[in-house]
Amino acid sequence: MNVLSFPTHFVWGAATAAYQIEGAWNEDGKGESIWDRFAHTPGKILNGDTGDVACDHYHRYRDDLKLMHDLNLRAYRFSTAWTRVLPQGSGAANPRGLDFYNRLVDAMLGYGIEPYLTLYHWDLPQTLQDQGGWNNRDVVGRFADYVSLLAKHLGDRVKNWMTLNEPWVIAFLGHRSGEHAPGLKDEKLALQVAHHLLVAHGAAVDALRANVRDARVGIVINLWPYETMHDTEEERATAERMWQVDNAWFLDPIFRGTYPVAPWEAYGAKQPRVLPGDMAQIARQLDFWGINYYARHVVGAPERVPGSEYTEMGWEVHAPALERMLVRLAREYQLPPIFITENGAAFPDEYKGDGVVHDPRRTAYLYAHLEALARAMAQGVNVRGYFVWSLMDNFEWAWGNSKRFGIVYTDYATQARVPKDSAKWYAQTIAEHSLAPL
Ligand code: FCB
Repeated sequence: MNVLSFPTHFVWGAATAAYQIEGAWNEDGKGESIWDRFAHTPGKILNGDTGDVACDHYHRYRDDLKLMHDLNLRAYRFSTAWTRVLPQGSGAANPRGLDFYNRLVDAMLGYGIEPYLTLYHWDLPQTLQDQGGWNNRDVVGRFADYVSLLAKHLGDRVKNWMTLNEPWVIAFLGHRSGEHAPGLKDEKLALQVAHHLLVAHGAAVDALRANVRDARVGIVINLWPYETMHDTEEERATAERMWQVDNAWFLDPIFRGTYPVAPWEAYGAKQPRVLPGDMAQIARQLDFWGINYYARHVVGAPERVPGSEYTEMGWEVHAPALERMLVRLAREYQLPPIFITENGAAFPDEYKGDGVVHDPRRTAYLYAHLEALARAMAQGVNVRGYFVWSLMDNFEWAWGNSKRFGIVYTDYATQARVPKDSAKWYAQTIAEHSLAPL
């Protein structure tokens, strides 16, 4: 395979998440989520930003989909807000919330854009949090009910479903470091949360298969590989240990039905409570899995690797690690087909009001990562598609509106959308199934 070209049926898309773009946080009967509560708590989000309005996508979705169509995007990874369809997390459904996602999906299909639906991108109903959230095992049943509801309403048109986005982030940024909602700081609890997330994922897989004919079901895992600065034996051992702690902790249960031994033993009294049947439930066969890749960790490096470029997030730009990681994963696990469900970069883009935004560093980032992907594919890794993060600049969690990941610029004052140069480059790449020159 030519490393600059892609198969004809390769899926080209862009990704977003409900809380980051929709706004309309309390409209049409929507209930409060943990992100509404967190963002409304002073001191949690940079500059006091919130997702109350975000990109106002709830009202502008038609224009946004038209723009996607104009940019040649063939697939859209978006998420549904649990509190829009079940304001209290369970119980009575909200018809206006269901109606929004019905209209959204219909509009998508009208533009020839294939839906890839993420069921949970971090916005747990606050009512469920008040009952213990993901630490309360009852949440597994509530999640399965929510999934069944959406599957019944959208499953005739939506065939690609992702259960969870980034369980590592939910568990550890939400419940150990407290940087994300619900803002807890308790490692033992975070490990129990991680376990309940995995069981809920497995329950959701069953709910989707029961309710959607020809469903293609997957999960999205964020992976940051650990590499070494000096390639010493000690660094390599640390890198491997950290890979087990962060990544194998989620991959092994899903793809092997067991927790990795070394971190399991190291956690000792903090080990999560696992009930009989849990591991089989977690390890349900998947039709695909999504990887979110942004950067790598480098063991033994100073704060910044000398000579490396860094994004606005302080993340190193290093595409070859993606290739190496994919090749390793394909060697170590029996994997279903892979999608890169997020990849992208924040840079300080400037808009001067003249209809253009020059973002050569983002284009170079996308180019390099797609090239790395193609190299992995040439070595036999089964990758079916790629979603850039993100369609447009949006609410970047604890960083508020300060980090711009979009290939489309969002002018928050006017809600104008301005395709950046990277969007034009991506559109050309999609049209040609081959990386457009820089
Ligand atoms: C990922 C999230 C996504 C976005 C990117 C930058 O961890 O899934 O919502 O914030 O990071």
